[in-house]
Amino acid sequence: MKIGILSRESKLYSTRRLREAALKGGHQVRVFDTLKFGLYLREGEPDVTYGGKPITHYDAMIPRIGTSITFFGTSVVRQFEQMGSYCLNTADSIVASRDKLSSMQALSRQDVGIAETAFVRNQKDILQAIQEMGGAPVIIKLLSGTQGVGVILAETNKVAEAIIETLSSVRQNVLVQKFVSESKGRDIRAFVVGDRVVAAMRRTASGQEFRSNVHRGGKTEVVRLDEAYERTAVRAAQILNLKVAGVDMLEGSDGPVIMEVNSSPGLEGIEGATGLDIAGEIIQFTEEQVKFGNFNVRERLSLTKGYTVTEFTVWPGASIIGQTIESSGLRDADIVVLRLNRNGQHIANPRKDRVVMEGDSLLCYGSQLALSHYLPERLTKKKRRRLKKI
Ligand SMILES: Nc1ncnc2c1ncn2[C@@H]1O[C@H](COP(=O)(O)OP(=O)(O)O)[C@@H](O)[C@H]1O
Ligand SMILES: [Mg+2]
Repeated sequence: MKIGILSRESKLYSTRRLREAALKGGHQVRVFDTLKFGLYLREGEPDVTYGGKPITHYDAMIPRIGTSITFFGTSVVRQFEQMGSYCLNTADSIVASRDKLSSMQALSRQDVGIAETAFVRNQKDILQAIQEMGGAPVIIKLLSGTQGVGVILAETNKVAEAIIETLSSVRQNVLVQKFVSESKGRDIRAFVVGDRVVAAMRRTASGQEFRSNVHRGGKTEVVRLDEAYERTAVRAAQILNLKVAGVDMLEGSDGPVIMEVNSSPGLEGIEGATGLDIAGEIIQFTEEQVKFGNFNVRERLSLTKGYTVTEFTVWPGASIIGQTIESSGLRDADIVVLRLNRNGQHIANPRKDRVVMEGDSLLCYGSQLALSHYLPERLTKKKRRRLKKI
């Protein structure tokens, strides 16, 4: 297989390790400096040049896109997706995870613990947001900081207000976040590859520092993760559609609290702490996935006129409750149930003798007209909450 690695620096530890692992796996591998590409768009023929010259087809691309070149870097990744190279992390998923607000938005509707966060700009809202986070101390974050830069612990409400106002006045978007003090300057980095946590470490901030980033002097140690932490990390990566992710979680009093999800997590800290061959895991996963390609199901399925994918919860009193999938009439109405979610448990391709229950969530593909008969009326907030409890 021909593997390309997109990285500004071939000497960086992570890049070097990935290259080594690819060679060890018997692959051809080349490290490309992301900024040396030219992207060309022509009908039916997306193409790139590298250093002004054409390159041959690559089966897979492993993007390592630094925060300073997100726009150009993800454009390069998107171009390779169009050219049929399998990209380990797609451009869209990298963009979404890089913005701390957008990733928290995506996570917030799901059943994973996240740090309570507010995004406000008017003075009145700033005060309210600080109150909502339980008052000072609160955390203030720049939307796209990294390595701990742009993360501030405000000790009093007055200071918090002043910081937010100052940053807003220089056109910086800031988040207000609940300070998870019980984590005591420690956090967990879970390294996810595919549907699995392949390694995890705990980072502990040094001295008076509350930020545990390794770049801020945080110390690392290996941990065995509780199941809740493992599940949360994998779920977060899945929700953000990241195949490789570094999921950072605080140790909250009620369990894992996601702080951020990194799409180009570094290998040095985690391989150093655990002694595991994570680069090897990434290459092996790439080998397994490459034939499936990057596939956007919704986009493909919607290409058939009048058909769509949707997911709905079986509301109390729905006619299909107690029926099997076969007797429910769904299939006769040209609707296929792709997946059933019951109490957080996913059942792929449920069989026709599976009985539908109240509160089940059905992911379906079918004609919009037929589906619209099965969809519940728009739920009120109260009803939705009740359904969630079922
Ligand atoms: N809400 C919070 N409560 C407690 N500590 C936090 C919180 N948010 C961040 N931290 C600490 O600050 C560090 C950096 O925050 P993070 O959001 O990961 O930003 P960065 O992208 O700069 O790493 C975290 O690793 C953690 O130690
Ligand atoms: Mg971080």
